[in-house]
Amino acid sequence: MEVIIRPDPTAATQLAAALIADQVRTKPSSVLGLATGATMERLYAELVRQHKEEGLDFSLVRTFNLDEYVGLSPEDPHSYRHYMNAQLFNHINIDIRNTHLPHGQAEDLKLECRRYEALMQACGGVDLQLLGIGRSGHIGFNEPLSALQSRTRDKALTPTTIEQNEGYFPTPADMPRCGITMGVGTILEARDIVMLVTGSSKAAVIAKAVEGPITSMISASALQMHPHCRTIVDEAAATDLTQQEYYHWIFENEDEWRAYR
Ligand code: PGA
Repeated sequence: MEVIIRPDPTAATQLAAALIADQVRTKPSSVLGLATGATMERLYAELVRQHKEEGLDFSLVRTFNLDEYVGLSPEDPHSYRHYMNAQLFNHINIDIRNTHLPHGQAEDLKLECRRYEALMQACGGVDLQLLGIGRSGHIGFNEPLSALQSRTRDKALTPTTIEQNEGYFPTPADMPRCGITMGVGTILEARDIVMLVTGSSKAAVIAKAVEGPITSMISASALQMHPHCRTIVDEAAATDLTQQEYYHWIFENEDEWRAYR
């Protein structure tokens, strides 16, 4: 894994957006794995800007989101389908039929999970997976103790995640207690991974994920096994990392990052 520290959330977000934009320019028919959450709102705004001002072309891109709440319809304003349409899809030239999220209202959740995995495979797998991290250490809705080889499945949410997200719902009781999520094993099959983490509330958990032991207690720690995972943090999220000097050195000196400095 490579860890890159940028001075503030804007710079961190711009770097993550640049990596995604380059992926789309290099392979216009890329399969992108997408994430939701507050962190990603700024990133999607930057992709929308690049589409509108610089002609970044999404016409051939296909997307698969990490997760969706069980029980919410795509029209529900709290569903991740609604979030994705509002934050990104409605503002770029993507074919909406090429955008995929698990169906939270599927009658047979197990069947829906198999369908989702099969569709990803049929599209050739994910070229670049975008990730955030939850305060529970989750990627997608892979809460603590998720098997490191898990596949797409329905998963009960932890109190930490419910507390993190219940503010988006009219009352805490409205927040679903379950989600459908790509598994940790599913995520690790992406050819490329970019994790974006900003803010001091994530400092402790990202330090565990990046520098701690690989453990199912912190699902994001499984990314240490991925051959091409880049984690981008801002200074506030980097506070608890012990190797900050080294990470700065990498960004300033490695050829791979020259175009982004
Ligand atoms: P956040 O969520 O961006 O809203 O902090 C990230 C996550 O829970 O994966």
